[in-house]
Amino acid sequence: MNISILTVFEQLYQPFLQTSLVQRAQKKAIVQIDVQSFFSFIAPKKRIDAPTFGPGAGMLIRPTVVQKAVEKKEAKFGKAFKIFFSPQGEKLNKRSIETIVQKFREYGHLMLLPARYEGMDVRVEDEYSDMVVSIGDFVLMGGDIPAMMLIEGLLRLIPGVVGKEESVRYESFTGPFVDYPSYTEPVEWKGRKVPDIVRSGNHAAIDRWRSAQAAKKTVLEHFSWMRSQPISEEQKDLAKQFIPPHYVALMHTDVLVAKNQPGVTSVTSLDLHDIARSSRTYGIKNFFVVTPLIDQQKIVRRLLDFWQTGIGIEYNRNRYEAVKLVRLISSLDEVIRTIEKKENKKPLLVATSARPTEEHGKHITFYDQSQVWVHDRPVLVVLGTGKGLTESLIKYCDYLLGSVHGFSDFNHLSVRSAAAIILDRWLGINEKIV
Ligand SMILES: C[S@@+](CC[C@H](N)C(=O)[O-])C[C@H]1O[C@@H](n2cnc3c(N)ncnc32)[C@H](O)[C@@H]1O
Repeated sequence: MNISILTVFEQLYQPFLQTSLVQRAQKKAIVQIDVQSFFSFIAPKKRIDAPTFGPGAGMLIRPTVVQKAVEKKEAKFGKAFKIFFSPQGEKLNKRSIETIVQKFREYGHLMLLPARYEGMDVRVEDEYSDMVVSIGDFVLMGGDIPAMMLIEGLLRLIPGVVGKEESVRYESFTGPFVDYPSYTEPVEWKGRKVPDIVRSGNHAAIDRWRSAQAAKKTVLEHFSWMRSQPISEEQKDLAKQFIPPHYVALMHTDVLVAKNQPGVTSVTSLDLHDIARSSRTYGIKNFFVVTPLIDQQKIVRRLLDFWQTGIGIEYNRNRYEAVKLVRLISSLDEVIRTIEKKENKKPLLVATSARPTEEHGKHITFYDQSQVWVHDRPVLVVLGTGKGLTESLIKYCDYLLGSVHGFSDFNHLSVRSAAAIILDRWLGINEKIV
């Protein structure tokens, strides 16, 4: 199988290709790597680049030079799967590398075309590229290091290149979890000891410990990635252990009412039912309905009595399962005390808001779970009714989640809809696999 690299700076590849496993792959004739400079396809003293048309600085590699190079290489090694490099390309990750491995097998010839300067004339990519690859959302001076990264990622998946097949089978990003922590000698170094379990010789126990460590690190540091992956029931249960307990409070006090005055609001039975069901779906431990009004409390109590103790239990088991999470409470302080008593730790309060709120330095996004979870404290998501939580309540909370909105100027979701979206964005995972 051949890899041909067409580049401006072929000298960059010499140490890389003559070192370690990349060299071994060539020596074992698993792969033949051919590097050639674009300069060798032009007449002496001619340029391979030309200025971009239109305002703005920058040079591009000429399409005619690339054409010559591509045609020559394909004439020599056969039709190639051609990969260009650009920060705008498809991210180099497990999935894209697997696609490249498959194409490499299919074609037997992979052509890498890393650019320099401002890149390639767009027509060249349109004409030739089978794939455009990016190594991240930043701009490098050229595509050579991305090309080398691709070669390393690719070759270790080709049988015979890496010594032990096992070492590539269980690695970060091969399943929904990252790799487990590894240790070597000495057993104690700078006061840090290798955990006893790792040296216990009990393979089953070591496997369990490793899986747990991998799940913990993934949940706390790579949650967005983990939930973009298919996950089994068993892996989900493992990951769940490392997500701190979550609670939801629906505030009917400390909210803004007509004319944006602080006040109290009425309870809505639909909110109770639907937020209870969302809470049950996303693993919330309790859903607190917070109202200090005696009359309102009576309404909630009647509803809860029906579902939690009355004929509702048999009438609809699923609804009962959800509504049994609901707790009626008079104030947010009481909610906090209840959680603290149950968990032996004070909860962190995450406020939610639909309106642009003052800058308190508390803003977090739906990608910032690790910022909150790293404290290993229960989390209370605080939802407002009426015109939303008061500014003073938001200030009292530890964090403020960015508002939920779409590509329109309409910003009037019901609290039960917002709750479902917020819980899904914060705790939702991908489809399960069996
Ligand atoms: C200075 S960059 C051109 C960037 C281009 N003007 C843009 O903003 O999209 C020159 C070349 O470096 C390579 N390159 C730079 N950043 C890269 C990245 N993040 N991933 C892959 N290749 C990259 C590409 O081959 C690119 O054409």
